[in-house]
Amino acid sequence: MEFGEMNSGDAPSGRREFFKKGAQLAAGLAVSSSLPELLSGATQEPPHPQASTDFHREFPKGFCWGAATAAHQVEGNNVNSDLWLVEHLGQTMFPEPSGDACDHYHLYEQDIDMLAGFGLNAYRFSIEWARIEPEKGYFSRAELQHYRRMLEACHKRNLTPLVTYSHFTNPRWFAMDGGWENADSPALFANYCEKATRALGDLAAYATTFNEPNIGQLLHWASIGGDEGPGGSLAEKLDAAHDAVRQQVDAPHFSAFLFADAAKTRHNMLIAHEKGKAAIKSVRSNLPVGLTLAMADDQPAGTGGNVEKKRADVYGPWLKLARKDDYIGVQTYTRSIVGAKDLPPPAGAELTQMGYEFYPESLEHTIRYASKETGVPVIVTENGVATPDDKKRIEFIQRAVQGVGRCLAEGIDVRGYIHWSLMDNFEWIFGYMPKFGLVAVDRETQKRTPKPSATFLGDIAKKNAI
Ligand code: BGC
Repeated sequence: MEFGEMNSGDAPSGRREFFKKGAQLAAGLAVSSSLPELLSGATQEPPHPQASTDFHREFPKGFCWGAATAAHQVEGNNVNSDLWLVEHLGQTMFPEPSGDACDHYHLYEQDIDMLAGFGLNAYRFSIEWARIEPEKGYFSRAELQHYRRMLEACHKRNLTPLVTYSHFTNPRWFAMDGGWENADSPALFANYCEKATRALGDLAAYATTFNEPNIGQLLHWASIGGDEGPGGSLAEKLDAAHDAVRQQVDAPHFSAFLFADAAKTRHNMLIAHEKGKAAIKSVRSNLPVGLTLAMADDQPAGTGGNVEKKRADVYGPWLKLARKDDYIGVQTYTRSIVGAKDLPPPAGAELTQMGYEFYPESLEHTIRYASKETGVPVIVTENGVATPDDKKRIEFIQRAVQGVGRCLAEGIDVRGYIHWSLMDNFEWIFGYMPKFGLVAVDRETQKRTPKPSATFLGDIAKKNAI
């Protein structure tokens, strides 16, 4: 079998089940069914507000309507990154390597053109530290120039570019030196932020230091006391995979963000955000800077439940930091019912390809929470659904965007809705199976085929109303 050919149908059922469970955990959903007492107290499922056809709302002038990607997931051949290395070792958690991905590295111009053609007015993408600084202290002018061309391609089409400096992957040398567990990591990151901003900052509209730096906490929380079958919780499996990598590459300190011990990395990442932001501002003081958070819509199981405890742990320090930022990026895919830990989706709930509950209203709930906690403008930097059925994507978008409309009506300062994702891409430890894209990609030919949902979202953008 060639790389990239594998799909969910090829995966042995044990592994398929394993990744499904992993997906639920990644979303903050517990997969254990060994908590009957908690389950019986679970929140009664509120009726889902269906998409209302008579809902009408104009969005504020200048509202960003866009789609997002991340370098490692779409560019292809991110060979100097930590995850490329991990993907090519045995005993890791990747069912398939990222490979050529969507070859966005070469096809960015046509992809950006396509995005603009739908009627969208914003593109969120990440620049890849592993390309820009492939060896410690060596910055590649050619790679910086590549990202400059991407930014210029956005401007040529009047698109607002939102630039993420770190979206999960890091340079291999950085991971070998301990990644975010290394006390020098904030200074190393700030140096990269400064160099990248010197080369690109004048063309960026928004800068994001980190994409979802709290994903590890979400994972960890979901696994507390977990009984996830052979091999333990997802967090334990990640640990085991990390140990295997350390042995195989003979790098005792190797630490890749997605596999790292979240408790050990958070401290340095909090500092790195502040230092990175200061570095960006030192070059362009008026460039809005923030971070994005992985957020579940946490709902209490019955009257008990650890929602507040979970929130304090998973989002607390980041939301506190974000109060001093220019905006907060909200990224929501589903809700979690929280008991002593996260519970499985309610019986009979409709599930997505990731095993998440199909629950578009989670977005408005997290927007309200993030806005209340931070007091800064909110940008929905990711929201979407993994489904092979594009009609469900359209329903998801409609209901989610109506929720954004309700938040605006309440006076919440929401600046944009950026859909995840522009195209079907490499979904980390789930490979290419989940379909999050507005556009399908044939990875043999790299042919793009827009789905009806692309036109649906584009039409909302063109009207700036729903
Ligand atoms: C990440 C993306 C990912 C998406 C869908 C977010 O956690 O930022 O990289 O593809 O969710 O799972």
